Amino acid sequence: MAINKFGGNWTETKLNILGKYLSAYTTILKKYNFKIAFIDAFAGTGYIENKQNTDENLLFEFEETKEYIKGSAIVALETKPCFDRYIFIDLNKNNLDNLKQIINEKFSNKKDNCIFYNDDANIVLEKLCNKNWQRHRAIVFLDPFGMEVKWQTIESIAKTKAIDLWILFPFGIGVNRLLTNDISKMPSSWEKKLNDIFGTDEWKNTFYKTTVEPSLFGEFEKTRKVTNFNKIAQFYIDRLESIFVGVIDKPMYLCNSRNNPLFLFCFASGNEKGSKTAIKIAKNIMVKEMGLK
Ligand SMILES: C[S@@+](CC[C@H](N)C(=O)[O-])C[C@H]1O[C@@H](n2cnc3c(N)ncnc32)[C@H](O)[C@@H]1O
Repeated sequence: MAINKFGGNWTETKLNILGKYLSAYTTILKKYNFKIAFIDAFAGTGYIENKQNTDENLLFEFEETKEYIKGSAIVALETKPCFDRYIFIDLNKNNLDNLKQIINEKFSNKKDNCIFYNDDANIVLEKLCNKNWQRHRAIVFLDPFGMEVKWQTIESIAKTKAIDLWILFPFGIGVNRLLTNDISKMPSSWEKKLNDIFGTDEWKNTFYKTTVEPSLFGEFEKTRKVTNFNKIAQFYIDRLESIFVGVIDKPMYLCNSRNNPLFLFCFASGNEKGSKTAIKIAKNIMVKEMGLK
């Protein structure tokens, strides 16, 4: 069985939070007349090899502690009350086949309610979001490795006004690494990636400052990075707030074992009527989870 390899304790944290939100969500939504779906746009294989990267383990690799934890797809399939539909998207065919096999074997009663797409998450989500959402509600979980999620996709999700979104935004593992100290040294492909993920080039004005510096040959302009993790996080939260009715204003920093921030775990709610409750529940779950760590 193929098993995804990544993570650390933060992997468990995000899945605990997701799991708790999913059951709160289905409990509430089952009282209404909507068809409800869980859309796992970076679905993975079903299980994750959760590596505990402590310094000790790095020194004595043969003693590395391996444990397997349930991935987002399994967490969703085990949620009670259950969803009406489960939509799993993954670009990697082997991962998706593995997940299908697990569902056939362990969740055969739910297999007819599962839909699989072996394609890019941005493409599939764009199509799904363009459907009529009047009688439908969903949670979209975006759990990429890096900078795969385009802003255009986030906009499509918000436009449905029917979807709650959990997203891991790669502010440490992706964005901060692309922000070169001197903007003139930034490759154009990195600039494009940043424009795609933020949906604007306003980040240049927020994260960089131009100063005039003297030299032997006269004065010249230098545009230097003047940002940090908090500013990058705030910029993304402001972007989400510009298109969703509700957003958790203080999202969670998911850090590696050396305490370096990797992802920002964000929550946004698209429905006018449900958003206040959704934000309250999501915030409570996050705060409790942080208290436990
Ligand atoms: C971090 S893993 C997801 C883990 C999963 N959420 C879980 O809890 O088990 C990212 C997954 O996204 C898939 N992936 C990478 N790029 C993708 C893309 N552009 N569209 C859809 N899936 C993609 C990878 O094959 C991988 O399985």
